[in-house]
Amino acid sequence: MKIQIIGGGGREHALAWRLAQSPQVTKIIANPGNPGIASVAECNPAADIHSCLSQAERAGIDLTVVGPEVPLVAGIVDLYRAKGRLIFGPTAAAAELEGSKTFSKHFMTRAGIPTARFVTVTNLDDARSALESFSYPIVLKADGLAAGKGVVIAQNEHEAETALPALLAAGRLVIEEFLIGEEVSFIVLSDGNIALPLQPSQDHKAAYDGDAGPNTGGMGAYCDSRILTQAQSETIMDTIIEPTIATMRSEGTPFTGFLYAGLMMTADGPRVLEFNARLGDPETQALMHRMDSDFAEVLHAGARGDLKSAALKWKNEPSVCVVLAAHAYPGAVRMGDPIHGIDQAAAVVFHAGTRIGPKGLETAGGRVLGVTASGPDLAGAIEKTYQAVSQIHFDGMHYRRDIGMKGLKRA
Ligand code: AMP
Ligand code: GLY
Repeated sequence: MKIQIIGGGGREHALAWRLAQSPQVTKIIANPGNPGIASVAECNPAADIHSCLSQAERAGIDLTVVGPEVPLVAGIVDLYRAKGRLIFGPTAAAAELEGSKTFSKHFMTRAGIPTARFVTVTNLDDARSALESFSYPIVLKADGLAAGKGVVIAQNEHEAETALPALLAAGRLVIEEFLIGEEVSFIVLSDGNIALPLQPSQDHKAAYDGDAGPNTGGMGAYCDSRILTQAQSETIMDTIIEPTIATMRSEGTPFTGFLYAGLMMTADGPRVLEFNARLGDPETQALMHRMDSDFAEVLHAGARGDLKSAALKWKNEPSVCVVLAAHAYPGAVRMGDPIHGIDQAAAVVFHAGTRIGPKGLETAGGRVLGVTASGPDLAGAIEKTYQAVSQIHFDGMHYRRDIGMKGLKRA
């Protein structure tokens, strides 16, 4: 089987690493890929959806798997299907679940899916009067894709007033109730009819230890079966995932691909904070490390609309991924710092923002590497991962020192 992977971050490196271990996979190409992906795949810089299609046609690709949301929202799945090519991902219409916060909130209302109480507004006056029907803190979400940066949690009226104009620049804003609980990333594969859950995982979105500082794309993740009880997983499948898949189908936009429910586990049960139409990053790095199945076979079945007979196996050992970020991330990052020590690290080191410069491997993005390892228990996995982190160095490197610690409290 020849596979094409769209994307070039840590998530796509983890996918490529897992797929390269499938006995059925004879070749992997990636658009655009990165220096880490290049160790298992042929990378091509052209990554707009039409170039990706030409590349798939030329290379005789059997299955394309899409990582990021941008090509999905741009219609890559529609484009490939129109040419009769097998691709795993949602159509542009189905990707609106992620592409538009207002679409997604109204969809949840129609489908009866538990989520935070909300209103949508399109101008400053309506926003101000809507604020009065909520108590602080209040959550403000710009419409449209914002790479994790379109959400503001305002502690008081002054903070809300300050944030409103920029958030309204996209034209529409969701104002919603602040929920309290622990966040869980619950990701499933769907063929439009059936949903097959991955293991639950947990991201760490804030830049600094103790969930302090600005929001980022995600500073680390872990995957441990104890994040949710069996009963909690069943409730999520019954009240959130199944009704989403059924309603998307009945509305004529069946959801195929990875559906990521970002959940808050509140005292009243799970509530959806957001849907993503793709795998999470860095969650995927921890997930692929723990997976014990031939993922190529499962993805191929998903793209064919035949997940009925598919199953996923997982290793018992929990996995942990610590993101090493560049100087000043999540602000304006510096690039071009040489990276040292990857070969000495006893872990799988997934590349995200890296490139080959005149002096070798160097930083080329905000999230640079995802150091990923597993252990006999969560404490062991954390220790092993940080041991590997201590071998790696680049100027300006920073990372959180508490990835997975919430899970230790649970144990
Ligand atoms: P979103 O992009 O909608 O997932 O929001 C980004 C982050 O903001 C989430 O991961 C949460 O940490 C936080 N957040 C979003 N919505 C809420 C909410 N209703 N209550 C509390 N925190 C929220
Ligand atoms: N890690 C959060 C996301 O992928 O959206």
